Amino acid sequence: QPVRLSDYRPPDWLVDTVDLDVRLHPTATRVIARLGLRPNPEGREGSAITLDGDELALKAVTLDGEPLAGSAYVATSSALTILAPPQRALVLEIETLVDPSANTKLMGLYRSSGTYCTQCEAEGFRRITYFPDRPDVLAVYTTRIEAEREEAPVLLANGNLVESGDVEGTSRHYAVWHDPWPKPCYLFALVGGRLDRVSDEFVTATGRKVDLGVYVEPGKAGRAGYAMDALKRSMRWDEEAFGCEYDLDVFNIVAVADFNMGAMENKGLNVFNDKYVLASPETATDADYANIEGIIAHEYFHNWTGNRITCRDWFQLCLKEGLTVFRDQEFSADQRSRPVKRIADVRLLKSHQFPEDAGPLAHPVRPQVYREINNFYTATVYEKGAEVVRMLKTLLGEEGFRAGMDLYFDRHDGDAATVEDFLACFADANGVDLTQFALWYAQSGTPKLAVSGQWDEAARSFRLDVSQTLAPTPGQSDKQPMVIPLAVGLVGPDGEDLPLVLDDGTNAERGVLLITQPKQSFVFRDVAERPVPSLNRGFSAPVKLTSDLSTAELVFLARHDADPFNRFDAGQTIALAYLVEATTAARTGRALSPPEALVEALGSTLEDSALDPAFIAQALSVPSEGDVAREIGTDVDPDAIHDARKALRQTLGEALAPALKAAYARHAPSGAYSPDADSAGRRALRNASLDLLAAGGSPEGIARAVGHFERADNMTDRFFALSVLAHSAPDAREAALAAFYERFRDDPLVVDKWLALQAQIAEPGTLARVGGLTTHAAFSWSNPNRVRALVGTFASINQTQFHRADGAGHDFVADAVLELDARNPQVAARLLAAFKSWRVLEPGRRASAERALRRVADRPGLSPDVSDIVSRSLE
Ligand code: ARG
Ligand code: ZN
Repeated sequence: QPVRLSDYRPPDWLVDTVDLDVRLHPTATRVIARLGLRPNPEGREGSAITLDGDELALKAVTLDGEPLAGSAYVATSSALTILAPPQRALVLEIETLVDPSANTKLMGLYRSSGTYCTQCEAEGFRRITYFPDRPDVLAVYTTRIEAEREEAPVLLANGNLVESGDVEGTSRHYAVWHDPWPKPCYLFALVGGRLDRVSDEFVTATGRKVDLGVYVEPGKAGRAGYAMDALKRSMRWDEEAFGCEYDLDVFNIVAVADFNMGAMENKGLNVFNDKYVLASPETATDADYANIEGIIAHEYFHNWTGNRITCRDWFQLCLKEGLTVFRDQEFSADQRSRPVKRIADVRLLKSHQFPEDAGPLAHPVRPQVYREINNFYTATVYEKGAEVVRMLKTLLGEEGFRAGMDLYFDRHDGDAATVEDFLACFADANGVDLTQFALWYAQSGTPKLAVSGQWDEAARSFRLDVSQTLAPTPGQSDKQPMVIPLAVGLVGPDGEDLPLVLDDGTNAERGVLLITQPKQSFVFRDVAERPVPSLNRGFSAPVKLTSDLSTAELVFLARHDADPFNRFDAGQTIALAYLVEATTAARTGRALSPPEALVEALGSTLEDSALDPAFIAQALSVPSEGDVAREIGTDVDPDAIHDARKALRQTLGEALAPALKAAYARHAPSGAYSPDADSAGRRALRNASLDLLAAGGSPEGIARAVGHFERADNMTDRFFALSVLAHSAPDAREAALAAFYERFRDDPLVVDKWLALQAQIAEPGTLARVGGLTTHAAFSWSNPNRVRALVGTFASINQTQFHRADGAGHDFVADAVLELDARNPQVAARLLAAFKSWRVLEPGRRASAERALRRVADRPGLSPDVSDIVSRSLE
């Protein structure tokens, strides 16, 4: 049953054209697919035509217009095989019947609040019609959609609209769309419904006029403006940064309320989770705006990295996802503050990908085997995949990287490509050998890098000793050394960088040391005074770095490092080291006071007017409970971590109170809300200051938060204040939550915030609260956003309550997974993945997590999705 990369074979039959006729009906949609097939010269000669299906009912099949004899084919709900087809080009016409209303998996054709929509990646097209559902079969699609005019006045599909009109003598109408670009079936999409449209226009670099449309539920067009703006900026940016121009006359985006993931890059017709389209100052936070911008860009950028060049097979998923995440990160960095964006991206990587890489679900950026591909849309494939592309750029430099990308677009346009194809472009364009670098795609786990420095006063030199290790991960016991581009600086006593001249007289190119061996040393000359090394600048490699830097040296870097990422990271490193120690102390009932140096460093950061407020806000946020758990790595007691962290935040709030109050006052809003990065940064710092001031529950801090909540004129401030009250003010909490709900009860996306916040409260009463909310009118097991907001947040963020010592948190989530599995296996499997770090827990909690996992594993009839996650988690 497992699929292996090493088993890849080209398809036996190719499909050149697909003509679809889809007659929409709520419970009985008729799909007629006319497929122009021909034997693949690279396939096996004389083979049958095997088409994938999933829960399909076959109504009719003809070959070149003639009905097929019953003995000429075998049809089941999951496959259609034409047994002895003539070995030449032929036309197969297949009629199937599907029920979009009963489709709770949200894969294939389904209805979301009455709107017909599709999701085909990875293997959803086979739920619409029988087809070779694999990304290396590329065809030109023509799609006719027909529906009741009343029910679905809007009819959309990929490509350009070629025809539309009424179906004579009926209440139905139709539209015909043609997509000239050959594509794999996972990029197919259609939409039918009653939707409002926001329109705009974009003229490409070579003068092609493109009609842009964003479609939303009736009445919500007023919230689609930011998405449209982000789309236009993305289109321009891709031309400027990568020379990628749009290639159709229309580009449409549709926002739907029920969606398994974030969004989908269907050719010319992106379908979005409405959470990543709809925004207004009253309903969306600054973070929501930033996510919308990033995801609109991500899906748009797939037009070249994913669509024009697609993947040969699903093992190559990172080829489009890692690369496209890298591209959207760069876009956001250019639109906003580059250092702050880098900090946010690395935080996400460490909080989501590092634990994945350290646990039972670890897999390489390019997996070698899978049982359920939907379980591989992971932080490793996406975020670590993006880091690997970023390292290529660091190694090759700006121009060398661009040359490789240009060659990739040039050489592989129209192809279903592989990671090897991708790397070969960079190797060929730069005349370099990337064989060892390719290990980043093959070896799972986070490399550890230990670095120590030695200043030789007499020789006026500085030596860095670097060693790398990579621990065994599931299925990989022996590892080879990786290529690690380590960006470094030597910071002199005056805070200025020293020139990096190696002892052989060469310069460390662009400040990057190339680590390729288990152990290596680098000696820098002309170092007259003892420097402080700044290591892995900009997080140039996704590694876990340990160094011999003292707290005093880290404080120095936090104040002076020219690299903003390391300036931030130095403070985090001090805080994390303290939290690890304080957690140990907390387990024996002791309290440990935080290092004076940390308080001072944060104080001076807070008062440094040369710094970007958004950066200061990041520096003020202490590592999360999950960060501390990961750092401890074994025998983890979440309650002790929580206590230690709470105490640190309280101390910081008290010690820095005057500076925090000043920052709060200094960043008061001026004028109406605007989502731009500068305004958002000011709000971030003001809110971070409020948060620390209230962290210990001081009456003054709480009163300030209450006022902030009541006076807020935008969701960022209102929700932030509500969070402060929910976490730090048990007495003010309920009234504030109730007021918030009353105000926004008709707005599901805002209600999600309200659900998620309650799921995060670190108190024993939270489990009962969350359980109660599952029966609240605002909650629904059938909407993925609701489930993720309430149950997903509880399991992934609330460390103390999910991992309750009595096991009730684990049981609750296991029950939710079982409840969901029958309805929507993808959402259930994702929820179950919250158990991924269960082995690091202390023995009691570890046992309860294991019991919960075994209970899930023992349930008969599990979906492949959940069964795959649970079996790997227990392996
Ligand atoms: N390609 C989409 C994106 O990252 C993700 C779609 C994944 N969907 C799924 N059901 N696995 O932009
Ligand atoms: Zn993507």
